[in-house]
Amino acid sequence: MNFFFVSRAFGGCVVEIPYDKVRAVELVADGVRLLDQRVLPGSVRYELCRSAPEVARAIADMVVRGAPAIGVTAAYGALLAVRDARGSSDFRARVDRDLAVLRASRPTAVNLAWALAVMEKAIAAAPADDPGPAVEAAARALHAEDIAANRRMGARGADLLPADARVLTHCNTGALATGGYGTALGVVRAAAAQRGVAMVYADETRPWLQGARLTAWELVTEGLPVTILADGAAGALLRTGQIDAVLVGADRIAANGDTANKIGTYGLAVLARHHGVPFFVVAPMSTIDDRCPSGADIPIEERAPDELLACQGVRHSPEGARAWNAVFDVTPASLVDALVTEQGVVERPTAEAIRVLKASVMRP
Ligand code: MRU
Repeated sequence: MNFFFVSRAFGGCVVEIPYDKVRAVELVADGVRLLDQRVLPGSVRYELCRSAPEVARAIADMVVRGAPAIGVTAAYGALLAVRDARGSSDFRARVDRDLAVLRASRPTAVNLAWALAVMEKAIAAAPADDPGPAVEAAARALHAEDIAANRRMGARGADLLPADARVLTHCNTGALATGGYGTALGVVRAAAAQRGVAMVYADETRPWLQGARLTAWELVTEGLPVTILADGAAGALLRTGQIDAVLVGADRIAANGDTANKIGTYGLAVLARHHGVPFFVVAPMSTIDDRCPSGADIPIEERAPDELLACQGVRHSPEGARAWNAVFDVTPASLVDALVTEQGVVERPTAEAIRVLKASVMRP
């Protein structure tokens, strides 16, 4: 894994890349190129991963993050595994080993396992003597379909918002977190284009600051209004009556609609219900995991305590203090007013309503 492009440092100004040009992940000639999300918006730096284990490490280390973006990245990682193993007598065993490493890189975002299952099928169906082109086509198609799904979700979700909406969002669900365009932030984009968005309130999202750094960067570079707030300020903001809707993404949705998303989402959902503000989850169908009957079955990632005990490498908590760094929580379906997918919108999701949605034919 090596860095091959570093832009100017962030000195109070915003590095400008139009959002439709922002690509968290791209397949390039010599590997998978990832926009390093750990250093945005201070620097625009890319990392080149030349093998599946390098891709897995980049996912685990948060170079790329956001459930759909992780899925797209893993799909390209599977392609690198195939290219590496091509022509060897133990082709399948080597590929399987790399896929297992990719699958283990982060536990909660189901898009990772979903994308690898899609790629496994593509690998099995590819010509044995030259699987590369067919597998590459499958990975590129998965990426393109993610962007198309986001655009459809954007249009459906925008219909749920009033003109000049004031929305509250959590973490980053934009172009950076997906193949492009975004899920919850895609709804903001579509709403802004259709009827205007008066303000996007972005929770800062401790400890990685996906809201304060990434969501704010995407919106500022696009000329959309954004106000950052401390995570703990959301209740006070909702109480003012200035928020029309809370919009969040998802890392895994259980078959009954329980939704795992960035830690703090559950608290937001409780607050939104208390204050009578609609709470919308925006996610592609690939985020729904039938193997998890309810939220209790979703594995929740816990990351290193240091992420909480220190800030940007500087320790602020006393030695001896511990940290509980669960990075996702589960919002019960009963607190979700609508689930917005590319295939349709489900109000007050239940297991039955989700089953019907999955069985439905997709309409534009
Ligand atoms: O830890 P992260 O940054 O990968 O967490 C991301 C989130 O929780 C997002 O809200 C979620 O993946 C939805 S992205 C469209």
